[in-house]
Amino acid sequence: MKYTLITGANGEIGHSLVERLHQRGDNIIAVDLQPLDETVAAKCAITYSGDLGNITNEQLYTELEKLDITEIYHLAALLSTSAEKNPGLAQHVNVGGTIRLLELARTTGKRIHTAVKFLFPSTIAIYGFTSVEAKKSAGKVKEDEHTLAHTVYGINKYYCEQLGRYYDRHFMQLSAEKENGYVDFRGVRYPGLISAFTVPTGGTSDYAPEMLHAAAQGKAYSCFVREDARIPFMAMPDGVDAIVRLAEAPKEHLTRNIYNIAAFAPTAKEIADKVRELYPDCDIQFKPDIKRQGIVDTWCEDVDDSTARADWNWQASFDFERTFKEYLAPNIKQRYS
Ligand code: SER
Repeated sequence: MKYTLITGANGEIGHSLVERLHQRGDNIIAVDLQPLDETVAAKCAITYSGDLGNITNEQLYTELEKLDITEIYHLAALLSTSAEKNPGLAQHVNVGGTIRLLELARTTGKRIHTAVKFLFPSTIAIYGFTSVEAKKSAGKVKEDEHTLAHTVYGINKYYCEQLGRYYDRHFMQLSAEKENGYVDFRGVRYPGLISAFTVPTGGTSDYAPEMLHAAAQGKAYSCFVREDARIPFMAMPDGVDAIVRLAEAPKEHLTRNIYNIAAFAPTAKEIADKVRELYPDCDIQFKPDIKRQGIVDTWCEDVDDSTARADWNWQASFDFERTFKEYLAPNIKQRYS
């Protein structure tokens, strides 16, 4: 029996990804610290939560090593705001957990004589600008530019991208026996994701989903960034589509391990205006938190995703208009009705 492993399965991306891969017919192993929602668990062959759902717990690997896992979606991580509050824990989980999973992929791949696909959600937080002017003048950034991140989260993700590439292409290059090639490492750098069904915890792009979900519940919202703050965002269905399509792309078409993916890049005010169109009575105020704003100011305004388009035909289905009109509006109204 072949399995697809999803860590962080109870998180925002996990919810939608489990659904998508279940439809594809995968035998899913779901791992999460939190008990899995019933709707998620029902679509999985095996679930691990609590202590055994901790990606830094060696006992979990005693279980996973017995299984023929051919695809890994490693979603479990602390997001940027949580990581900045506890850098030690962030490194333990975001780097330590990723290394342990790369090792699981490598040893499993070697045992079953096939490369295990390792899908990694990286982030626009790997980019780093020292001023708003520099960020503005850079516009759409390419993958290998401006990669001096200011947050431990961004630095951890960037390091894990590099480690993944190493496991894929150069692992133990001095050994007599060939050791690389047992991990087929692929990743996307996600923009801020907006879901109609879930709200993120501990991120810095959270202001967009937070203002929308607050408005839908009739709650006032105080936005922690300036009206002119601009970073890329994406609707959750496109986020899930991107990682699954990248996983399914023929390896020989891929010219890199990590890809930018773009959809739309509005200012916080443009997002608030869209929310106000949906909920004319909503109360959204802008009260920037200088420090959290400071993190957003270091992230890029937008990304150049031309390599993903060329290599694996990536294209977002939902632009800014369509995201609100066809995805968020109907689903969020139903969610809170
Ligand atoms: N959305 C994430 C965060 O805000 C960035 O990848 O932390």
